Amino acid sequence: MSASADFRFPPSFLFGCATAAHQVEGGTSNDWTRWEGLPGHIRDGSVSGVACDHYSRYEQDLELLHELGQNAYRYSVEWSRIEPVEGRFDHDALRHYRDVARKCHELGMTPIVTLHHFTFPQWLADLGGLEATSLPWFFARFASLCTAFFGDQVEYWVTVNEPVILVLLGYLGGYWPPGAQSMMAARRALKGALAMHAAGAAAIHAVAEETGHSAKISIAHHERRLLPATSSVLDHVAAATPDYVLNRWFLRSIQTGRVLPPVGHGERMVGLAGSMDYLGLNWYTNERVVFDPRRRDMLGVRTVLNPDTPVSDYGWAILPFDLTDILVDLWDLFGLEIMITENGVADSDDHLRPDFIVQHLRAVARAMEGGVPVLGYMHWSSMDNFEWAEGYSRKFGLMEVDRSTMERRLRPSARVYESICRTREIPAVQARASASA
Ligand code: FCB
Repeated sequence: MSASADFRFPPSFLFGCATAAHQVEGGTSNDWTRWEGLPGHIRDGSVSGVACDHYSRYEQDLELLHELGQNAYRYSVEWSRIEPVEGRFDHDALRHYRDVARKCHELGMTPIVTLHHFTFPQWLADLGGLEATSLPWFFARFASLCTAFFGDQVEYWVTVNEPVILVLLGYLGGYWPPGAQSMMAARRALKGALAMHAAGAAAIHAVAEETGHSAKISIAHHERRLLPATSSVLDHVAAATPDYVLNRWFLRSIQTGRVLPPVGHGERMVGLAGSMDYLGLNWYTNERVVFDPRRRDMLGVRTVLNPDTPVSDYGWAILPFDLTDILVDLWDLFGLEIMITENGVADSDDHLRPDFIVQHLRAVARAMEGGVPVLGYMHWSSMDNFEWAEGYSRKFGLMEVDRSTMERRLRPSARVYESICRTREIPAVQARASASA
């Protein structure tokens, strides 16, 4: 099934890109900075360092994205800049993030602001990060401050980016800070992330109401379906729990206002019910899995690739058709308008990305024609950046960044996306545009 040829994205539809502070800004100092400095943690041995120097170049970067026809921008604020020492707040940093939102408005772009995108100030990491008992309180104070300082400029908020991924990689798999490999730690961290979101959402709502501004809140939910690769009962049973924990536990807990099993016993959590006004969706791929008891970090499953499915440089299967089903299912289950807060592909020579964008937006169009309210699409990412434990080895950008000069060079896919942003139509046949810097 294809979206009808005359489909047009409505004028209110947001087209943009997503970034995260630590990956693009440069000069950050947080728990990741320390982690990167220790041997063996980053695949290519790199450190985030100056990243894309986006902290000082954000105006030119936004102007470029605006020239590419985009009308929205998702960025994150770096907590460690705003509160480098517990209880000491840096007003220059707060002003900076307000200026980014203002610049967006000046260019007719809607800002979408993430408060926590994987990094903690060092002092908070030292207290336990997601396991710190006082985390919800600290996060609420931080969220209140940000809302009071620039809430007049921001309607769409993301409290926490991909909380379950952060827990699986940082508290169970040991691949990310704090490097824990413990089921108990992972359970505490999941509960901590839920409480952090609830407290942050309550704080944003309270300040917004007091100051008379509209604030819409979500997490950025990472959906990655784990489907049994064979018809074996073992594979079916093995896939069910990790699939639920990864894809449904957090959202269902928010929906019910309760800490659901296997993390809690269904007890109510203060501020959780009603803490989401829209659903932010990060989607890259789904996985076919088989039972493998050795993969404790993956909750007992291992991914197998279908040799016929194209994969990105990351080895992630490219499955654009699945996106329609995901949007339909999430709308059926949660009844919230959906913002695609991330979708993209690691593709260093840009041979996949032009078609990837066209096909994924076609899948979005199909869902919208079927009645799913999708608010926007944020491509990950505007430019190549520091891809966590993969360092600079994964290239997700519409723009390449020359790491010695910081020059941004458009890839052909940037022009393909531009034409969709401008016409609001999806080309019938993929057009490969040529691009220059
Ligand atoms: C997502 C993260 C984002 C980026 C992309 C490739 O899971 O939210 O920061 O690393 O993957």
